[in-house]
Amino acid sequence: MGSLLSIGASTRSSQRTMVSRLLPCSVSDISLAKYATNDLELIIAPESATFKAMEAAKITLESRYPIVIPTETVYGLAANARDPEAVSRIFTTKGRPSDNPLIVHVSSRKMLQSLLPESYQIPSSYEKLMQAFWPGPLTLLFPTEPSKIPSIVTAGLNTVAMRMPSHPVALAVIEHSGMPLAAPSANSSGRPSPTRAAHVWDDLGATGKVSLILDGGPCEIGVESTVVDGISDCTGALKVLRPGGVTVEDIRATLSANLKEGEDLPRVLVHRKDYDDTALEQQPTTPGMKYLHYTPSVPVILLLPMSKLQEERGEGLAQILDSLILSMAKPDLQGHLTVGCMFSLDSLLRSQLPSTRNFHFIQYDLGVRAEPNIAARRLFDGLLTLEKVGVDVILVEGMEEVHEGLAVMNRLIKAARDVRSVRII
Ligand code: TXA
Ligand code: MG
Repeated sequence: MGSLLSIGASTRSSQRTMVSRLLPCSVSDISLAKYATNDLELIIAPESATFKAMEAAKITLESRYPIVIPTETVYGLAANARDPEAVSRIFTTKGRPSDNPLIVHVSSRKMLQSLLPESYQIPSSYEKLMQAFWPGPLTLLFPTEPSKIPSIVTAGLNTVAMRMPSHPVALAVIEHSGMPLAAPSANSSGRPSPTRAAHVWDDLGATGKVSLILDGGPCEIGVESTVVDGISDCTGALKVLRPGGVTVEDIRATLSANLKEGEDLPRVLVHRKDYDDTALEQQPTTPGMKYLHYTPSVPVILLLPMSKLQEERGEGLAQILDSLILSMAKPDLQGHLTVGCMFSLDSLLRSQLPSTRNFHFIQYDLGVRAEPNIAARRLFDGLLTLEKVGVDVILVEGMEEVHEGLAVMNRLIKAARDVRSVRII
């Protein structure tokens, strides 16, 4: 395969020596038509580099090794969801605890139906959400049984999480291989999710932990899918287990816009905001509760800007930075502290960065405050970029928990070693 770009990282795994390959895929080689039934027609330009990459993907998946695929949310580490041995390699490659279940990715309504229990009737709330947001960053929980999905995928639960991604390369891999793909984010367990192929290369490629990475460009959404459980509540409420790329506001608006006569509007409850569930919080199935999440190798400090009314509770930014120098064992101030700053472009914190020689600031902006979708897109890239340039610490400015800001804050609270209230002067 002449067009394959082979970058020669290799390592000896317990089964075989793997050489990682990074293959570029172009979205313009894939033509896609969406039908109202949630079925798609997909054509990959023959002879194109993308087609050759699809062939390589199919061969690797058939040989039961995971591959890395781009999705619109984050890159995923994918294997045939019907094959327990292939799926087990996802867990070993990531170092993922086996009690944390995986999302299954499908490319058509037909494939979805083939994975559901025969007699199962999809509820009307799901029909509306799938119509509005599939293909896209919404994951729904469905009932399942081991004859349809092996229990290694679901960690033995009686539900399975499924979504139809919208990235043409992800859809093309599923279609071309004919396999539903189980895929968590393509990072070593506990690290930030990758939103560029280069992030995956640094983490899993350079050490030969995966044999094939498909490069489909930077992920447009940048945070993972919204995970919704619409089947476990006896009152018909939908529970948002993990906020993500589809906002809670959009879910509520979709459900209320398409209400038929006599139909009740289901409540949409957000975990940790509208309800708590202590039993569930002990389990890994409440996404990201039990295990370390989203943490780069440098400490992340979440700054919560205080309003004028609350400001006596906060510290000044200079005070926080001074305390960091002390706590990070640089008390002599011989060297300086290199601080990564992830602030919005119109942040009031920018003018408060002290100009002493003790600090060297590297900025990675999160777009403007009025556009939280940009912050979502740039969040993981910011953490990984600043980690790579070698900062000592990353300061991230918190944002309002509305629209995509809810998903951003959900990730930041988990990534942060410390949360500090900061006074705006
Ligand atoms: O956007 C995404 O969702 C990405 C891309 C690759 O599709 N995938 C992703 O997968 O974020 P992962 O494994 O990193 O996160 C999936 C989350 C996990 O926290 C898991 O606990 C939860 O979904 N989950 C999976 N199956 C579940 C189930 N049956 N019940 C409750 N939670 C489940
Ligand atoms: Mg993940």
